[in-house]
This record gives sequence, C-alpha cells and structure tokens, in this order.
Amino acid sequence: MNELDSLVDTARADFALAKAPADLENAKARFLGKAGRITELMKGMAALSVDEKKSRGAAINVAKQAIEAALNHRRQALADEELEVQLRAEALDVTLPGRRRVGGGLHPVSRTMERIEAIFSSMGFDVADGPEVESDWHSFTSLNNPPNHPARSMQDTFYVDIDGEDGIPYNLRPHTSPMQVRYAHQHIKKHAAAFEAAAADATGATRAPEIRVIAPGRTYRVDSDATHSPMFHQCEGLWLGENVSFKDLKVVFTDFCRTFFESDDLVLRFRPSFFPFTEPSAEIDIQFQSGPLAGRWLEVAGSGQVHPNVVRNMGLDPERYIGFAFGMGPDRLTMLRYGVNDLRLFFDGDLRFLSQFQ
Ligand code: DAH
Repeated sequence: MNELDSLVDTARADFALAKAPADLENAKARFLGKAGRITELMKGMAALSVDEKKSRGAAINVAKQAIEAALNHRRQALADEELEVQLRAEALDVTLPGRRRVGGGLHPVSRTMERIEAIFSSMGFDVADGPEVESDWHSFTSLNNPPNHPARSMQDTFYVDIDGEDGIPYNLRPHTSPMQVRYAHQHIKKHAAAFEAAAADATGATRAPEIRVIAPGRTYRVDSDATHSPMFHQCEGLWLGENVSFKDLKVVFTDFCRTFFESDDLVLRFRPSFFPFTEPSAEIDIQFQSGPLAGRWLEVAGSGQVHPNVVRNMGLDPERYIGFAFGMGPDRLTMLRYGVNDLRLFFDGDLRFLSQFQ
C-alpha cells in the first residue's frame, strides 16, 4: 500500500473513532487543516519538476477527496446518531394507559338534601337558605323561647364571642327553625301589598299568598357520639296560611316519607312532644313494614302547629294565620336510606366510604 492510501486509511480510522462532532473537527484538522498532513504533502511538492508536480498533485488530490468524503460520511453518521438519541428521548409510548380522570361525586347527605328539595318543590314549597351564625332572637326568643326559659337547655348551643344588637352573643344556630321567622319576614315584605289588602278586607275574602317553604342547612350543637355530631344537618319546613291544619301536616309528611324512601310500605306515628315554638307538638316516627328495619319506630322529625307567639313574631295575626312546622334530620334520613349505622362516617372525609355512593 502506498503512502497516500495508508494516509486515507488512517484518516478513515481516526474519523471513525470520533464520538462527537467536536472530536471529528479535531481529527479533520490533523489531515485537512493548515498544518494538516495533506497540506504538508502539498508543500512538499515545491522541489518537484513540472511533470512530477502534475502526477503527484493529482494523486494527492485523489487522497484529499477520499478523506473529505470520509469526513462528510462520518459527519452525517454522527448527526444521524444525535437525532436518533433525541428521538428516543422524546419518544411517546402511545400504548401506555392514559391518566384516568377521577370523577367527583355528591356527598350522600347532599344527595339527600337534593332529594328533599326536589320532593318539597314538587309540592309547591320554596327552598330557602339562611345564616349559620344567628342572633339569639332568631334562634330562640322569636321562637317563643326567651332567655332563661328551661327549654333552652334542649339545645346545647355553641356561642360566638361577639354580641348581637341585644347584647347577647351570636350563636351557631342549633336548629334551622330561625329560618321560619326570617323567611316569613321576607315573604311578607315581598308580598306587602297583598298582605295589606288582606288585612284591610273585613270580609276575609282577600287572601295573601301562603307561606310554604323548606330551609335545609348546617346546624351545630355541643354533642358528639355515634349518632350525634357537633355539626349536623336539618331541614326546616313551614306551611302557614288561613286554613292550614295538622291534617295537612300528616298528609304532606306522609307523602314526603313515602316518596323519599320509595315505599308505600311505611307508616307514620305522631308522638306527643314539646317544643316551645309549636302547640301542640309531635315527634314524627316512621316504621317500615318490610326490609331490614321492619318493625322499629324511627324518629325522623319534630313538628307541630306553629305557636301563636311565633306567628306574632313573624308579624302576622295568629287569629288569622295558622299552620304547621317541622324540623327533620337529613343525616338520619341518609343513614336509614343507605343502611349506615355511624353518623361520623359522613364527616370523616374517608373516600373509601364516600366513593361507595357514586
Ligand atoms: N327545631 C327542633 C329541633 O331542633 C325541631 C323542630 C320541632 C322544628 C318542631 C320545628 C317544629 O319546626 O315545629 O329539635
């Protein structure tokens, strides 16, 4: 092998050893650079005759072209490799399973609330919302339960460190009953003309729109065990008009329970009780006639005919306006509907429990 051929071979071998473009450029300089081997060979021709220069020059050129070709080849190979690495790094594995979107859902008690609202709405009841931090007057006094009345101890109440206008601290409402008076005031204001017209008509033929409302929401008491939680839910109901009786309460509540539990196989019992804001008062118990709970009486609500003092506090004449109210426990209804025996499960926030209702 002549000297030029072996030079080309050496260049090819050097280029092949270059693992990165920078290495390759260094290798190139050794052969094709200003002080490179090819340049040296060219310079070495100075002493040759014209004919010798021609043939030697042509041979060197052939070698130079071969080296350049090898260089370009290697350049392309390195660029291809680099692209390959980059593509591999950025590769998408379309066969990987997608990231699943975790679907949220309604809390079981929220489901019950929505159910209660839907059923009572279908019976012509409005749905109202009210404050959870309440004045003493709304939570108690307006409901015929004045300061120092023994009935106040029925509800072990949380108080807030801020006094209301009456100098008595605000409370975390222990029941939704304050919404009776709040809503009545709103209703009378909204229909002021109708109430004035009704009051002005001595014949009694002119009537103002009846109050028919439910008020679901959060309530609070100093209470905590398997069936009581310091925060729980209630849903108040009120139907007040000129001719609304206990009979209507029985019909409405029986209808509600049967619709809620999707069963006609259920009876109600109105058990005499006491609440300051109703007279007479009754605890409402239900009894399933079949199924796992059959035969047991289960308390679901307090109720009664609205006390004249409460009607008066609404701004209405108790000689003319009469009706009933009830307060039920949506948490209790949820436990009965789904067969849950510990109320605390609803408020622990454990998704293993809650996701079963989705
Ligand atoms: N507020 C009562 C309680 O928390 C429940 C209740 C009883 C509400 C009788 C009423 C009612 O509206 O008429 O125990």
